[in-house]
Amino acid sequence: QKPVTTDTAKAVPTLPDAQTVTSVTHWTDRLFSFRVTRPTSLRFRSGEFVMIGLMGDPHPETGKVKPLLRAYSIASPAWDDELEFYSIKVQDGPLTSRLQHIAVGDEIILRPKPVGTLVHDALLPGKRLWLFSTGTGFAPFASLLREPETYEKFEQVIVTHTCRDVAELEYSRKLIADLQADEMMQELIGVENLAKIRYYPTTTRENSAKMGRITTLLEDGTVFTDLGIDGITVGEDRAMVCGSMGLNTDIKVVLEGFGLQEGANSDPKHYVVEKAFVG
Ligand code: A2P
Repeated sequence: QKPVTTDTAKAVPTLPDAQTVTSVTHWTDRLFSFRVTRPTSLRFRSGEFVMIGLMGDPHPETGKVKPLLRAYSIASPAWDDELEFYSIKVQDGPLTSRLQHIAVGDEIILRPKPVGTLVHDALLPGKRLWLFSTGTGFAPFASLLREPETYEKFEQVIVTHTCRDVAELEYSRKLIADLQADEMMQELIGVENLAKIRYYPTTTRENSAKMGRITTLLEDGTVFTDLGIDGITVGEDRAMVCGSMGLNTDIKVVLEGFGLQEGANSDPKHYVVEKAFVG
């Protein structure tokens, strides 16, 4: 028997900056994604993040309730009329222990002030764009991969995603496969542009076609051999990085070793980094 929910109260927005959940997908016991309505006034650049959350529990003495907010990369592109997010589930995490239970029709809080460094404006023109991610760090790239500008600016788009096991790669694998097969996306971005994507998934704790941390695979040249690329050069390559603190720190050293320099919105250069927020 299916559980029945009666939630007439939820029809009336009661939260500040409330948005309504339109779909939820659970990928593994550690990962889920969801879509919410988009405020008509919200403008953002593909790759940016916003603060989202839920109302916290009442304060034990004052009874006051405060919003519990965390930074989340927007996984949907700037042109989409909904907003998508990709999240970890931390069983004792203040926000994600609750957020993982949201259902269609529920409300979340969304502060409409997008910011971030994983944007095209922060990179100088180049030939190849590398998108390096671990875990939920793939989220901003789910936005950028659906953004036509990505393909106008680069001849090749290489997406690496490293996760512990194969199941954790499903969100990125499916997103890219669906993107390349979808007629609307083919029309919007162009079949030849979608063919610029090279997807390079790797796992570290379960056997798969390609094992190892991306940092190791870059350092020992495996990535270049596998993709038939000579290497990373300042003249041709640009990179965006989003993952754990460990990845971000370690890959910076690798990229700087190839001569790449870190850019910012106000000072575009060869690569940009952002941490995957909720972890
Ligand atoms: P590993 O299994 O060797 O720690 P998590 O699920 O903990 O966020 O990790 C996601 C992926 O990021 C894992 O495959 C993990 O590999 C990898 N990873 C963690 N730290 C680093 C790092 N410093 N450099 C590269 N990859 C890393």
